[in-house]
Formats: sequence, C-alpha cells, structure tokens
Amino acid sequence: MFTPEMMESVKKVEATREARMGMEPRRMTAEEKDQLLKAYHPDYKENAFEEIKIGPNKGEKAPAELVNLLHSNSRLLTDKVDLSKVDYDVDVLIIGGGGAGSSAAIEAHEAGANVMIVTKLRIGDANTMMAEGGIQAADKENDSPVQHYLDAFGGGHFAARPELLRRLVMEAPDAIKWLNELGVMFDKDAEGNMITTHGGGTSRKRMHACKDYSGAEIMRTLRDEVLNRQIPVVEFTSAVELIKDEKGQVAGAVLLNMETGDYMVAKAKTVVIATGGAGRMHYQGFPTSNHYGATADGLILGYRAGAPLLYQDTIQYHPTGVAFPSQIFGALVTEKVRSLGAMLVNKDGEAFMHPLETRDVAAASIIRECSDRGKGVDTPLGSGVWLDTPMIEKLGGEGTIEKRIPAMLRMYMNYGIDMRKLPILVYPTLHYQNGGLEIGGDGFTKVIDNLLVAGEAVGGIHGRNRLMGNSLLDIIVFGRNAGKAAAAKAKNIEIGALTLKHIEDYAAELEKAGIATGDVSPLLLPKYARHER
Ligand code: FUM
Repeated sequence: MFTPEMMESVKKVEATREARMGMEPRRMTAEEKDQLLKAYHPDYKENAFEEIKIGPNKGEKAPAELVNLLHSNSRLLTDKVDLSKVDYDVDVLIIGGGGAGSSAAIEAHEAGANVMIVTKLRIGDANTMMAEGGIQAADKENDSPVQHYLDAFGGGHFAARPELLRRLVMEAPDAIKWLNELGVMFDKDAEGNMITTHGGGTSRKRMHACKDYSGAEIMRTLRDEVLNRQIPVVEFTSAVELIKDEKGQVAGAVLLNMETGDYMVAKAKTVVIATGGAGRMHYQGFPTSNHYGATADGLILGYRAGAPLLYQDTIQYHPTGVAFPSQIFGALVTEKVRSLGAMLVNKDGEAFMHPLETRDVAAASIIRECSDRGKGVDTPLGSGVWLDTPMIEKLGGEGTIEKRIPAMLRMYMNYGIDMRKLPILVYPTLHYQNGGLEIGGDGFTKVIDNLLVAGEAVGGIHGRNRLMGNSLLDIIVFGRNAGKAAAAKAKNIEIGALTLKHIEDYAAELEKAGIATGDVSPLLLPKYARHER
C-alpha cells in the first residue's frame, strides 16, 4: 500500500480530477519535443554511449553495455567444436522461439521446408509473451495503410527504412486476418467487429487487442500452431555462433545445450535470426519490461559474422513502467491504460503532458518532471508520477478496468492497490531496442547470403522510435515473410565445407585494435543469472 506521503499526494490528484476530466492537455510543438528529448531522453546521454571500434559499424556509437559485448570474443575461441559432426541438418534454422521465430517457422513449414526452431529457454519465453496493449493494423473504413505509414514514419523521426515500413503497414490487415483465423481471441463487439483503440501517436483507432494480454494470447496461438504442425523445437539450447561455409554464406549455427554445456552443430541452408530484444542488458541502469532472455544475442551473432547494425544507438524506454511497489519495479503498465483515458499527473495533481504523446516524448517528459522540475513522487527505488487510473472508470463507466485491462487490475491488486479507486505510480522502463541488424525489404541481411532477421532483432522498421502495437505487428509481418523467403531460398542452396573462420578473424581484429574485455559474448542470460554458461 502507499506511504502516508504518497497518500498526501493522492489527495491532490483527487482534488484536480474533476477539472482535468473536462480538458485535453495541449500537444507539444515539434520544437518543444526536440528540446525535451535532447535534454531528458536517455538516448541523448552522451556518456552512456561508446564508440564501436571494430566491424561493419566501426566508428559509430552504441550503448556502452552493448559495445562491451561487441568487443568481446566468442566462446568458441577456447571451446573447440568439431564441425564435421553434424547434429541437425535442416533447410531452415530459426534462432528464437518468440512471435517472430514461430511465425517464420509456421510459414516455412507451410512452404514445405524442413524447419527447426532453437530457443535458449522455452518456446514462448519471449517479449511477445509480455506484450500487453495490442497490435496495429489499418483495417477500418476510416483508416488506411498510408495513414498508418504517416503516423509511424513521423513517430519514428522520419528515420524508418521506407521499404520496411511500407511492408509493415501494407501487410498489417492480412496479419490480423491470419492471427484471427489461427484462433487469436481478439476483443470484438456484439456484432463480431474488432474493437480498436488509439495508441500514442496514432491518428486513427487501429489498436487491436486481446484485453491487456494481447501478446500472451498471440503467443499462445502461435505456439499451438508450431506444436500442432510438429515443427521440431530444441529448447534450453542457445545459438552461440553462426557457421559459414567456404563461400562465405551462412550455413548453420553452433548450439549450446544450456543444461549440459554440450555443443552441437546445426547445419542449415538458410538461417533466420529471431532472437528478440535487449532489455536484460539494463542500459543506463534502467529496469526492464522484458523477459529474462532479452540479452541482444542475435545482434552479436550477426555482427561477428559481418552483418551491419542500424540505429543501435536508440532504445525505447516505455514511459509507464511500474515505479511502485518495488516488487514489480519496471514491469509494464500498458499504454492502453492511457488509451482508455488515464492521465499522467505530477505530485501536485497537475497534468503535465498529453497522455498520448509518442513514447520517447512521454518518457522524457516524465523524467523531466521527476528530475529538474522536482514534481515526482518519492518511492523506495527512486521516484515516479501518477497515472490517474480512476479516470478510466469515470470516463468509460464502472467495470471498464476489469473488462479491458484485467491483467493490470490483478497485478496491482496483488499488492493491495485497487487502481479503480487509486492512481498508480509509474516511471520509464527499458522496453524495446529500436535498432538491430540491417535487412532489406525481403528480410535478408544485405551482406551475408542466406541470413535473414525478423522481429526485434531488426533495425530500421520503426526508425528511431516505435509506436505502440507496431512491434507485435512487425514480428508477424516480418516473421511470416522471413519464413516464406527462407524456405524458397533453401531450395536452391548448396552448402560447402563448414567453417568458423570469421570468429578467428574477429578475434584478430579485436587484438589489432588493442581490445580485451575479458568477457565472452553473446551473453545468453542476464549478468545476475546464477547460470554460468
Ligand atoms: O504499452 C504496451 O502495451 C506496449 C505495447 C508495445 O510495446 O507495442
């Protein structure tokens, strides 16, 4: 429950509620947003970034924690693996068992390929499972993919790769149809029409949702489909290095059994990296909304093999992570809470921003309120601002919270906080990597033949900031496409002699640059994991 000091502040929130109900806070101008971001968004904190000293992005900046991994060596420099002993031989190897990997596997299987998923935890242990608010698609009469494109392009600071964003928005309606037909239980009205809401930065209501556990419902459905098709899934097994052949094309991956420590060789004609995000790197000490395995592995695998990164210097901090209670510090409070009408309010009960600004702007605005403006509410682990959730019941009618965001209600009820009656405390949490491996519109990396990337490991789909609901969308659109493309390409591939020469070349480059971190990468599990592999 809240402290007496917090309850004093709650009284001020309650005292201003009625007046705030009738107003809509002003949206910031473009200049105001730019100034705010430069002053308060973590992406602009120069000393949190370092220069990458080797590889395709040499000379560019990345979060210091990621640079450390890029500057670390492969396990396989010291742990030797016999590439002549092939444990798995498949057409399509998919690294990652989340939404993108599962979508890719389903489509590759549908196309007749011999496909296998390898995942370091279990299938579905992924950021997809953690996603709450929904998935965007312009499939209503008052909307269009063009409108969706404009919203996402502007929200991403005009930096999205047009060929990627175009694919995302054009194929969005079909992605929803596909999921619906697979069995995803979307929220629908009595006539069976999809219920859609706004997200930050959307000009139309195009957020399709399954209450506030949209990702869990989508992942459940995808996982069932993978299992029903009897697609092989090798769990608790990490890909620790890509394998190439003597022609330089990707030819599989070295796998590590996380339980026994044994290495295995998976030979493949095409490989899809679908390893997800990096929240468990805890950039700049932020808590995270991400699942336990989100440690940027795919970026390291791809980079060490020679694939460039794009926008690796931009991270998404979701504006509303839990600030209190401490037990769930950093957990996601879905943007849908604001879509349904809850305002962001400081300790004096003042609405300090429009609740549906884009995420980078909202996060920076909260950080400013809690730092320079001194308007945050103190918590045991820092500070936060109020998300005035009782407004939802007032605007939408009694029962709206239980009906539309039951997972939120239950999460807070576990700690004795009834969000229907009391506001909740929030602060930004590390949520998403905007950057990742660079791909073309066809899903293939541009420099390594037969290597594809899908999902959060891709950079460039969203530019330098992502709108809510476009990540659940991209894992489906780019996952499906990667599966189809990988299966088609695999038909015409001859693999030559397997080699790991690229890791020796990488080690030589590190040595030449005088870099010796003493660490190995990919990380595989967070630094605080007890597991030592
Ligand atoms: O706020 C949310 O529910 C998160 C959605 C997303 O990252 O797309």
